[in-house]
Amino acid sequence: MTAWSPSSWRDRPGKQLPNYPDAGALEAVEAELAGRPPLVFAGEARRLKRQLANVAAGQAFLLQGGDCAESFKEFSAANVRDTFRVLLQMAVVMTFAAAKPVVKVGRIAGQFAKPRSSDTETQDGVELPSYRGDSINDMAFTPEGRVPDPQRLIRAYDQSAATLNLLRALASGGYADLHNVHQWTLEFLSDSPAGERYQEYADRISEALAFMRACGVTPDGAPSLEGVDFFTSHEALHLPFEEALTRMDSSSGRWYATSAHLVWIGDRTRQPDHAHVEYCRGIENPIGIKCGPTLPEDELLQLIDTLNPQNEAGRIVLYARMGAGKVEAHLPKLVRAVVKSGHQVVWACDPMHGNTIKASTGYKTRAFDSILSELRSFMDVVRAEGAEPGGVHFEMTGQNVTECVGGSGGLAEADLSSRYHTHCDPRMNADQALEMAFQIADALKPVAAERRAAE
Ligand code: TRP
Ligand code: MN
Repeated sequence: MTAWSPSSWRDRPGKQLPNYPDAGALEAVEAELAGRPPLVFAGEARRLKRQLANVAAGQAFLLQGGDCAESFKEFSAANVRDTFRVLLQMAVVMTFAAAKPVVKVGRIAGQFAKPRSSDTETQDGVELPSYRGDSINDMAFTPEGRVPDPQRLIRAYDQSAATLNLLRALASGGYADLHNVHQWTLEFLSDSPAGERYQEYADRISEALAFMRACGVTPDGAPSLEGVDFFTSHEALHLPFEEALTRMDSSSGRWYATSAHLVWIGDRTRQPDHAHVEYCRGIENPIGIKCGPTLPEDELLQLIDTLNPQNEAGRIVLYARMGAGKVEAHLPKLVRAVVKSGHQVVWACDPMHGNTIKASTGYKTRAFDSILSELRSFMDVVRAEGAEPGGVHFEMTGQNVTECVGGSGGLAEADLSSRYHTHCDPRMNADQALEMAFQIADALKPVAAERRAAE
């Protein structure tokens, strides 16, 4: 294999990379970003890797979620806080049921660039470049708006920095203290079935905390009750941006992506000899790989060999994203091949991207039942092949949007138009996301009970 450097991806073919009309302007932005502070630290990425190694060993569960695409327009403190708090609610429910730590990773603070199935979009006979995410061009269908503008990368960096700053404060500044379990309820959630069920869980957790305190376990003696580790992630799609934020860690002498703790390779850019895999090969962060129905098992093994030649636990997260009804046909052979190879990986499920449909009203949507069905099939198949279903990856928001249909709220196709805000794919709203967490909790509970009985 040839020598790696943060720019060695440039010698490889790369898909889904934007064409900037002014190469000099892009270079100036890259230089500016290269002089900016890192967003995350190598030590944090190592900490996530250790936690993911526990997931690979079946001792923890991964919860990852956030917007399909972050946007400049929807950026606000309230938005970030609401996504964070639904993730906290989900994590608490899952931790309680599974009796395992939940590793919390946001799809946030850098998830701006989007792969597109077509380079251009045609509306009323007019053809323009496709929208590729707010860090690249404008969603507005105008010739000026769709020209890739490198200055948007600076704005994406700034928004990511501000988002991370808020997330760090929320995670460790008292908000995420387990004693606040009742306060994370969003107003519009409180009277939904998931909201009510959450109140019951929160009551039991408060009771348990009071009991533990009476037994002498105080926050001083158990500081982990007072906050959470919260990590960030996004797709490593825009390689010039990633390269500019790739830094050598002075303590280990190794390279890290400092744009996020974990980055993943999408299903459209996972060609083993292409640019995105080349870039990810040389950074030390945990790396995700999206595994769709067209991924052959030998290619998956080749990818894992390339990205994790030392078979380091916690380095690789595989996200199965097959689509409901396709899991049984495509996933077993992948899990079997990986198990047989002896590679230690985290098996996670992205039940969103294989389940996008067009509603009769024209909206892109996803059905709650399809998402749940894929998730259940995933768990069954992974277990049947002797591996551990270790995590989930959701497109979701803390807002009360109407983008996915179904759930106990009975969101119908006719409701989609009322609060359809996504800049890309449809997200579960807070209520649907919390309901999904209860479904996962119910699936994990019997296994936890078995484990307790065996102990
Ligand atoms: N720090 C522990 C953990 O992350 C306990 C904890 C504190 C927690 N606040 C939380 C768990 C919020 C879930 C949600 O697991
Ligand atoms: Mn998406």
